Amino acid sequence: MLLFARLTQILNGRGWGESNMATSAAYQPQLELAKDAALKAGEIIRSYHGTGREKHVAVKSGVDLVTEADTRVEKMITGLIKDAFPNDLIIGEEEQAGSPNGGQGDPFPKDRCWCVDPIDGTTNFVHNYPFVAVSIGYLEGGKPRVGVIYNPFTDSMYEASEGSGAFLNGKQIKIDSDASSIKDCLLVNNIGHYRYEDFVEESAERVKKWLKAGLRGYRASGSAAQNLAHVASGQVSCYYEHGYGGPWDVCAGMVLVKEAGGVVWDARCNETELEMRFGKGSVCAGGRAVVEDVLKVAGKPTFAFSVSGGK
Ligand code: IPD
Repeated sequence: MLLFARLTQILNGRGWGESNMATSAAYQPQLELAKDAALKAGEIIRSYHGTGREKHVAVKSGVDLVTEADTRVEKMITGLIKDAFPNDLIIGEEEQAGSPNGGQGDPFPKDRCWCVDPIDGTTNFVHNYPFVAVSIGYLEGGKPRVGVIYNPFTDSMYEASEGSGAFLNGKQIKIDSDASSIKDCLLVNNIGHYRYEDFVEESAERVKKWLKAGLRGYRASGSAAQNLAHVASGQVSCYYEHGYGGPWDVCAGMVLVKEAGGVVWDARCNETELEMRFGKGSVCAGGRAVVEDVLKVAGKPTFAFSVSGGK
């Protein structure tokens, strides 16, 4: 039995002791930098709280907002990454809004790359609603390998690196493994920034389907990164969103959920792991059984994201 377990670990690319530590050590510098940057970002974000300056918004498009804090935090994080890893590519939400590296659906670069959302949950930040997260992901070969999500208002630091597990404030976390169907699922479902009639109708129909199927609880937080962190820590069972804002919303959270024992699938295709692509995307994350049921009840989303990002 012991031999079988060892063999399985080796086949899965994980060993005991030294080899497992080697996997974690591989991304330690990136993990440490991401945590340091996230804590510094948190200080800046908190410094705006209650000053009224958090309400100075510019509109990116429709109801999608950006604040002075978003841009300031992104610049600070980008600066720290450039100092430590001058050759790495950095994809930050606010800079990409001005000069995108890729169009809707384009694949991510395979180079060493960082994907940063300075404030995920900008609308929440503006309203002083505390689901606000700094999200920093690190990728190699187009796949997220390190993920750090920090909520400066609850002082919650979620961290994971490939092969090393996921942690909340230093304690290992796991997904909600009790939920196996929609009936025992606490589902968090954001309905992003689109306000087109067919998008709104489809999103509302989907919620009705879940409720009619006996969903235990329905929530919407306004922060994709916070949702993925909550899935990783088992505080919610599943996160579904058709139309999240961009790869920076999900990059770090993908590592967290997978390291906590869950799956992160593209909600448009069956059993397909979410790929990092530019533009809007579609995600369902949680324990495998509950994700399967949530997707089965929802049916395939039909609203398509256009190449220009709008319609
Ligand atoms: C948004 C949040 C929200 C999601 C949107 C995202 P932002 O990111 O993650 O939860 O529903 O799709 O764009 O604009 O707050 O960084």
